[in-house]
Amino acid sequence: MNMPPIGLGTWPLREGEAERVVAEALALGYRHIDTAQMYGNEGDVGAGIAAANLPREDLYVVTKVHQDRFGEDRVMASAEDSLRALDCDYVDLLLVHWPPKDVAVERVVEQLEAVREAGICRAIGVSNFTRPQLRAAASVARIETNQVEYHLLIDQAPLKAEADSLGISLTAYMPVARGKAFQPEAVYEVAVKLGATPPQVALAWIVAMGVIPIPMSTKPANLASNLAAMDLEIPPDDLVRLTALTAGHQRFCRHATWEPDWDA
Ligand SMILES: NC(=O)c1ccc[n+]([C@@H]2O[C@H](COP(=O)([O-])OP(=O)(O)OC[C@H]3O[C@@H](n4cnc5c(N)ncnc54)[C@H](OP(=O)(O)O)[C@@H]3O)[C@@H](O)[C@H]2O)c1
Repeated sequence: MNMPPIGLGTWPLREGEAERVVAEALALGYRHIDTAQMYGNEGDVGAGIAAANLPREDLYVVTKVHQDRFGEDRVMASAEDSLRALDCDYVDLLLVHWPPKDVAVERVVEQLEAVREAGICRAIGVSNFTRPQLRAAASVARIETNQVEYHLLIDQAPLKAEADSLGISLTAYMPVARGKAFQPEAVYEVAVKLGATPPQVALAWIVAMGVIPIPMSTKPANLASNLAAMDLEIPPDDLVRLTALTAGHQRFCRHATWEPDWDA
């Protein structure tokens, strides 16, 4: 199954809440669920998937291996733990959560590939990789996606161009920048013009850029409205106006110890 054009984010959903939100989202029509070992909610996400009672082949489940598992080759064991927690026979996509600082990119990809060859995941990918890291990863194996911060307030056009040239998709985390991406006046004005909501404009812009958003919401109304944003077409002149907002280049997901040199 190809990666569906919108997914459900599940961080920071915890015990009980993740199960409810995943089950509600799947009932609404979401088919792509994003979780991670680091979120501590794979068990709950798995319970939500089970509650929805859908054929496994209709779902696209993504999880991530913590970057500290790569130094001592604990990736296979870690992926097996994720499968057990999710109560799935396989995941569709397995990502390295952040580029490990102490392990070469090529070695990271080799370890993920070994997990894929063992049948634990159908495809492998990366997250928070820079352009040089992406090139190094693609030199070793087929990389499905690079999951990165992507929204109206950050300029990721150079990274998107690099990913395009390597045949790698971008997945947009924090696609509404936890509310900040739909605050600018231009977003509001385009929303009024199109009879949509500002969050829908923020998400439809990402889709128009050829990127796959994975918004998180705890509220059924927002889950439904975010899914409906997939049908919103933004006219070319409004796309230009919205894209100009990325010049501000605001990055909200910061991790002093984990993040790579973003400008590399
Ligand atoms: N790979 C990584 O390093 C990484 C890093 C960060 C995130 N992620 C993934 O990306 C997912 C999404 O990112 P995120 O959750 O940080 O940020 P986000 O999706 O941009 O924002 C989530 C927030 O936006 C609100 N929201 C969503 N839809 C809305 C709507 N239609 N109207 C009003 N408010 C709305 C939600 O509130 P309500 O609950 O009130 O709707 C929630 O507080 C995460 O859940 C996680 O799966 C990955």
